[in-house]
Amino acid sequence: MKKKLLLPVVLSLIISAQAIAAQGNKENGKIIYDKKCWWCHGEKGAGDGPAAKFLNPPPRDFTAGWYKFKTTPFDEITPADEDIFRMISGGMNHISLWKGMSGTSMPNWDDVLKEQDRWDLVAYIKSLSGLEQPQKPPISYSGQIKSSKESIEKGREIFKKMCVECHGEEGKGDGTKKLKDDLGFRTWPRNLTKPWTFKVNNDPKEIYTRISNGIPGTQMPSFADPSSKKTLSEEERWHVANYVASIADDIKRPKDDTVLKVIRLEGDLPSKIDDPKWAEAQPTSFYFIPQIIAKERFFTPTMDSITARAFYNDKEIAILLEWDDRTKSIPGDEKAKELAEGDVLEDSVAVQFPVIIPEEMEKPYFGMGDSAKPVNIWQWKSGTTSAPETMKLMNANGFQKIEQRDAAKAGLKAIGVYNNGTWRVVMKRPLATEEKDKDVQFAEGKYTPIAFAAWDGSNGESGSKHVMTTWYWLLLKPATPKSTYIIPIIVALLVFGGELLLVRKSKK
Ligand code: HEC
Ligand code: HEC
Repeated sequence: MKKKLLLPVVLSLIISAQAIAAQGNKENGKIIYDKKCWWCHGEKGAGDGPAAKFLNPPPRDFTAGWYKFKTTPFDEITPADEDIFRMISGGMNHISLWKGMSGTSMPNWDDVLKEQDRWDLVAYIKSLSGLEQPQKPPISYSGQIKSSKESIEKGREIFKKMCVECHGEEGKGDGTKKLKDDLGFRTWPRNLTKPWTFKVNNDPKEIYTRISNGIPGTQMPSFADPSSKKTLSEEERWHVANYVASIADDIKRPKDDTVLKVIRLEGDLPSKIDDPKWAEAQPTSFYFIPQIIAKERFFTPTMDSITARAFYNDKEIAILLEWDDRTKSIPGDEKAKELAEGDVLEDSVAVQFPVIIPEEMEKPYFGMGDSAKPVNIWQWKSGTTSAPETMKLMNANGFQKIEQRDAAKAGLKAIGVYNNGTWRVVMKRPLATEEKDKDVQFAEGKYTPIAFAAWDGSNGESGSKHVMTTWYWLLLKPATPKSTYIIPIIVALLVFGGELLLVRKSKK
């Protein structure tokens, strides 16, 4: 009898503890706020802390009382306490050198502040705009349609009609509109193929919530609001949420790989970008970081990662570089001009190698080489409406000492194609060149340092203003001799066969 009673009692205790927690203590919240949050969000919460002028998106102004990521419906401005608590705990895709630079400066606090302190902060920041409890309950997920081939297909059709103008044909955020948020800051529609850059995440329920509520303060509209030009039924919103969840492309997500493995081919290397052979190469993705070492320093990148694949044969090496860039920047092009910040410059990508492969795993300074250790730079540029794409070869000893060389003479070639928010560039060079003291020489089985850089010409990037990676390794993988596959099979057959023989003999 006693035992039966215990469970409801414990439950109700937990529930009331949560209710108290959810209310929070705003006096304690202020004490924590004044230590941890004012620097960005401002002394009085107006979003005007000393760091604010360096940040886009800017820190939220809590006196205005609007929140981007809430689960209460579009026509209820007050978020649930849990919504604010969640954003404080998880942050908003906080930028870091290790997780990528495409996010915001809003950190996660779950590993810094105790749970109760975070609830107290909720109470405090709500008090800054006099927000009470929401009048309407959170949106319901009871009508959720499970993902299936049919649902994704329906979602794709809806996406084409409703979302591509901002998010692009394939969802990479390469829409046809230049967007500003309500405060006049330039914003970019999310690249929906990279869910690790979402401010919340790509669980279909979350996507459904965003589609239903929009993202207040930004151009991302509510599709549940009957007064808007674009409304979708509940069912349609689930289909499109399932579609968006299905286009996540994990290949583009940088893992911990530090080696780009170059696969050996017999015969010719693919020289076309759409050659199906590329599917046999091993893709490896790396995070870009903005160049902040040399002048002019750069803090507002638009591109966050690059994926590389590579082949070699007995003569040449071919590298396919693939990176998402929301704008195709061709100087002279009218459409490019509409989307650009300032003048349109050429888009560009480069790989960098040390001229002399270090023996002791010691790599040249990753900026652009240093005086003792020069680097080779292979740079492709997208061209303009009146000039074709170009491939350049440079040797650099640091940022100031750059020697322009003849790419054609070194046998260096490249072609590039832009399609739906992605550049693909193939670079090719002979493994060995004549000027051995000036060009990196590739050899099978040897670890060669490699670094990548890219420029978004619609974001004012040129010269030292660009994104780059640190040094990684390139390895020309020796072909696995056929015998290594066959020998274990023969051994297995012999052993197995031998055992069979033994068994038979003993049976006899
Ligand atoms: C380094 C700067 C920085 C610090 C420190 C910081 N924030 Fe933020 N915060 C931001 C930025 C930037 C945004 C807006 C991001 C956006 O709009 O996408 C934001 C947004 C928010 C939001 C809005 C969430 C929503 O759904 O709209 C809340 C709540 C918040 N911060 C709470 C806090 C609290 C509480 C602290 C202290 C514990 C804190 N922040 C510290 C930069 C910061
Ligand atoms: C008018 C432009 C516009 C349209 C149309 C639009 N979006 Fe967005 N969307 C945006 C912008 C801008 C953002 C980024 C907002 C921000 O800065 O946080 C965004 C962000 C998102 C996010 C990111 C959520 C997260 O956690 O970070 C998702 C998911 C999304 N949109 C889905 C859709 C879908 C699905 C449709 C069509 C049904 C759609 N959007 C239509 C502009 C648009």
